[in-house]
Amino acid sequence: MRFLKKGEKKKSEPPSSPTAKEHPELKVISGSQIPGRQGQQPNPQQQQPNPQQQPQQQNITLPNIKHKIAVASGKGGVGKSTVATNMAISLANAGAKVGLMDADAYGPSIPTMMGIQERPRTSPERKLVPLVRHNIKLMSIGFMVPEEQAMIWRGPMLHSAIRQFLSDVEWGELDYLIIDLPPGTGDVALSLTQAIPLTGAVIVTTPQDVALADVRRGVAMFERLGVPILGIIENMSYFLCPHCNEKTEIFSADGGRNTSERFGVAFLGQIPLDAEVCTAGDIGVPIVAGNPESPQSEAFGAAAQELVAVLEESGDEDELTIL
Ligand SMILES: Nc1ncnc2c1ncn2[C@@H]1O[C@H](COP(=O)(O)OP(=O)(O)OP(=O)(O)O)[C@@H](O)[C@H]1O
Ligand SMILES: [Mg+2]
Repeated sequence: MRFLKKGEKKKSEPPSSPTAKEHPELKVISGSQIPGRQGQQPNPQQQQPNPQQQPQQQNITLPNIKHKIAVASGKGGVGKSTVATNMAISLANAGAKVGLMDADAYGPSIPTMMGIQERPRTSPERKLVPLVRHNIKLMSIGFMVPEEQAMIWRGPMLHSAIRQFLSDVEWGELDYLIIDLPPGTGDVALSLTQAIPLTGAVIVTTPQDVALADVRRGVAMFERLGVPILGIIENMSYFLCPHCNEKTEIFSADGGRNTSERFGVAFLGQIPLDAEVCTAGDIGVPIVAGNPESPQSEAFGAAAQELVAVLEESGDEDELTIL
């Protein structure tokens, strides 16, 4: 379901898409072709997602992927992609089979963060073959569409692309598929939860109050969609002096921990605000890959370990030790 944004006019059919023409491997279908959507009009009374609708639409099962985990936030720029990337590498370093799907069609970051300029190839079975970096299988809309084109994607095309990234990509057998979401509570999160049963969502926040208000919205959205919250990660929690290792709490302390307690969800850990974390992302070698012994990498590893512990507690997760 895509709702028109305030002030946006409804058009009968999306304009012919340069994306579809240039990239036949990324089949784009119009909204009317999405099952169960023919002739549907936006209904203001359905502005909120209805959890009862979700199970009927989750027809992609991906049985070879054990855990499908969305990394989300209510607010932009809090470090979702940084956390998703470094946690994925921590899990892979511990021996897990990991995939990372960049579902941020509006501003895909994974190609830059992983230093990738090539395109995935298409297999003889017409499936997209993920690119591999640091032992992680990767797929991003940014591999195929220049960023400025991604910005103009309309809801039904986005919905279709998300589904194809799940079902038409050769993910193979994975322990974890980490899915990096765009900020907020919009179309992509809804499409994703409609497409597959997620194991759960990890919410990334910064410690300030304003960011935490957005966390509450993010948590509320996943709860409405029936997706378990696996935990909250507080990013940019403190500044770690590179000379004396002294911690300085720049923003109010422990906001993420307090919020997780309030919601009764796990607190997965704190990641320091650190220039190396930022530059590592910019140069395409995430810090956990480039400087795995650093305290910053240890913080990502500890958060990944906590996530595994939450999954173990909740069910059948095999033991995985992150060193
Ligand atoms: N712990 C950190 N220390 C220093 N810089 C960080 C840290 N985490 C993220 N950054 C930097 O902050 C910026 C935003 O991070 P990132 O792109 O991961 O956020 P995001 O939540 O995915 O953003 P968006 O909402 O746009 O998808 C990037 O330049 C990144 O390198
Ligand atoms: Mg991002």
